[in-house]
Amino acid sequence: MNRAAITGTGIYVPPHTISNEELVAAFNAYVRDWNLRNDAGIATGALAQKQESSVDFIEKASGIKQRYVIDKDGVLDPARMYPRFRERPNEARSLMAEIAVAAGSAALRQAGRSVDDVDGVICAAANMQRAYPAMAIEIQHALGIGGFGFDMNVACSSATFALDQAVNAVRCGTVRAMLVVNPEITSAHLEWRDRDCHFIFGDVCTAAVVARADAAPAGSWEVLGTRLATRFSSSIRNNFGFMNRCEDGDPDARDKLFAQEGRKVFKEVCPLAAEHIAAHLAQHDIAPDGVRRYWLHQANLSMNQLIARRLLGRDATTDQAPVILDEFANTSSAGSIIAFHRHRADLAAGDIGVICSFGAGYSIGSVVVRRL
Ligand SMILES: CC(C)(COP(=O)(O)OP(=O)(O)OC[C@H]1O[C@@H](n2cnc3c(N)ncnc32)[C@H](O)[C@@H]1OP(=O)(O)O)[C@@H](O)C(=O)NCCC(=O)NCCS
Repeated sequence: MNRAAITGTGIYVPPHTISNEELVAAFNAYVRDWNLRNDAGIATGALAQKQESSVDFIEKASGIKQRYVIDKDGVLDPARMYPRFRERPNEARSLMAEIAVAAGSAALRQAGRSVDDVDGVICAAANMQRAYPAMAIEIQHALGIGGFGFDMNVACSSATFALDQAVNAVRCGTVRAMLVVNPEITSAHLEWRDRDCHFIFGDVCTAAVVARADAAPAGSWEVLGTRLATRFSSSIRNNFGFMNRCEDGDPDARDKLFAQEGRKVFKEVCPLAAEHIAAHLAQHDIAPDGVRRYWLHQANLSMNQLIARRLLGRDATTDQAPVILDEFANTSSAGSIIAFHRHRADLAAGDIGVICSFGAGYSIGSVVVRRL
């Protein structure tokens, strides 16, 4: 068996930010207009009046202060409230491939690898732009990588599950190196008109190169182990799919976008994630306190604080468990990879870290790494 390492990461950050203030102003304009247009139904009790959102609530409940989006105007137009993307002809590069190429190229540069050193691409994200051909194959073609590519979706855990696949492929010698990309265009699956969740998500793309540790440059991150777990739950769900047309329902119904029971998710996922990480560390004879840094999934600040407290028996500092969700919001599977990308340069050789994602499925994936 070869030893595997993460030798480089990259990120594509969209050009626009939306602050909570801008988001709430647009949402509240939509609500006032909706209530006005539906005042007759509201007066008879047939319709419930929509409630306004608040910046204060968003920051206290989630820790999110802003998010990046690929299109801002469509999201903030109270008459639209979702991004506006140009339909591209088959000959043009698709949007997901475009951002994956940007992040993937950056990861290859950081890893000091050329495309000729890589034997495959995994595109792992909570949503795919189309059914087929696989996004990964378009990305592989655009970058000029040989070998093979495939897509996979485990929602918020797509990135860690893909790292597991890439690590195993390198360990077994199926590939010399693998590029994992996570283009998360969450603005397109979010119901921006739903007060309970309109503030949650942001767009981004992350990428990581996994290669043999024996040839990895100093400062790379040897993967000591990966651990994956899933337990079925409908608490986070999106019923959009290729059979919608055949079901003769409403293609724009609320359940065809992201929906969740946020409080239930919070209560159920925190203990699962903490137990998962503790068990994974125990497999490697590492005490939770022996971990220099936790790069956790970035959905909710209190959630991360609770998980770290359960693990360590005390509050974690932001040095031990860095936060990027204030800037990026929840970027689905990319969140823990952004944290890893942004907050690792200060660690020393031999330091141990844990990348961990958790979310819809439920799914939990952890990757224990040691700096070379
Ligand atoms: C979504 C989340 C931030 C909501 O926070 P919360 O503290 O659970 O808030 P609740 O949904 O219980 O709402 C509390 C109250 O605020 C209200 N509220 C909800 N959204 C609001 C908003 N945007 N502005 C003002 N008030 C709001 C609710 O209606 C509710 O009012 P009520 O008490 O009168 O019923 C939180 O549950 C969460 O992050 N959960 C985990 C989500 C997660 O990790 N998901 C993974 C996705 S990949």
